[in-house]
Amino acid sequence: MDSNKVYIFDTTLRDGEQVPGCKLNTNEKVEIALALEALGVDIIEAGFPISSPGDFESVSEISRVIKDAVVCGLSRAVQKDIEAAGQALRHARRPRIHTGIGTSDSHIRSKFNSTREEILERAVQAVKWARQYTDNVEFYAEDAGRTENEYLARVVEAVIRAGATTVNIPDTTGYCLPGQYGEKIAYLVNNVPNVDKAVLSCHCHNDLGLATANSIQGAINGARQIECTINGLGERAGNTALEEVVMVMRQHPELGLYTGIRPEMLNPISRLVSDTMRMPVQPNKAIVGANAFSHSSGIHQDGFLKDAQTYEIIRPDEVGADTSKIVLTARSGRSALAYRFKNLGFEFDRNAIDVLYERFLAVADQKKEVADEDLDAMAKAYEK
Ligand code: KIV
Ligand code: ZN
Repeated sequence: MDSNKVYIFDTTLRDGEQVPGCKLNTNEKVEIALALEALGVDIIEAGFPISSPGDFESVSEISRVIKDAVVCGLSRAVQKDIEAAGQALRHARRPRIHTGIGTSDSHIRSKFNSTREEILERAVQAVKWARQYTDNVEFYAEDAGRTENEYLARVVEAVIRAGATTVNIPDTTGYCLPGQYGEKIAYLVNNVPNVDKAVLSCHCHNDLGLATANSIQGAINGARQIECTINGLGERAGNTALEEVVMVMRQHPELGLYTGIRPEMLNPISRLVSDTMRMPVQPNKAIVGANAFSHSSGIHQDGFLKDAQTYEIIRPDEVGADTSKIVLTARSGRSALAYRFKNLGFEFDRNAIDVLYERFLAVADQKKEVADEDLDAMAKAYEK
């Protein structure tokens, strides 16, 4: 295993699809799975087979069409769930069963009315059942973010001994601070004797807006898989956004971490997922939002027009986005106005721009954004 590659585990079709209103049919799921494979995702979590006949069918169909990526099915630490996952994945070239149980005291007491020892036994048993179907088994310690580290380390050691090849450390409630999450991963790396036999995985939710930061801290501290979704979709405030973690690693080569993702496909797949799931992307979303490469204030526009790197750390073509936009609002300046006139075929000298700028401001104060048609009318009126 290349020690600096971070495996990308996409859960758009499982955690992402749990979002109300985002439900997909099998054909839609297959289309997205093929796009994820083309994007370079290493593992596709295709669904939760026991949850419904439709989800079982989707996992099964995705298993038939995916050639290179690992196809994964979720289960609880329950025998019939694991059997369903094993069945749904039977046509997969590279199947993975993802099984697990809550390990925080809150989950142990309130969800399971159980004890730490009993949960540990159930965890081990679940991994053994899953190993009957595939040697690629991932265990999740649900709510690991709020699980005491010493107990978590015992669980991780035991499930690796039982045959888990990946161990997922979910911050299920999005509670951890980046430093805390990173320390948790470091603790496991330093205190689980057989940790080298498995890959540690980050699965961070975004309840405090920290999912990307936490996943990156996890990878810095030794995790080598990140679980994420396109556009950050997922339960409540969502999961770690795939496009964000990938671009953080590309923008910061000093971390020494990389992925197999083709960045130029990030915007096309974002649009595909947004359209298919009927879930608009917020305009200010990093990397894939409509405003991610738009400049509207005079100071920024002036700098950008002199040298794009003054206000852009990523080139839009690198992530498959449309070219950068100079948006004209009442906060825009003369250089942006002259640039937009030039794009429409009007070249004006400095004096003309001074006059036109006053007319432009009068229009801009009335409208949110000044469009090409407004500029065209202004330019023609000036030339008369
Ligand atoms: O957030 C979580 O803990 C999960 C698990 C089922 C992996 O989604
Ligand atoms: Zn989750």
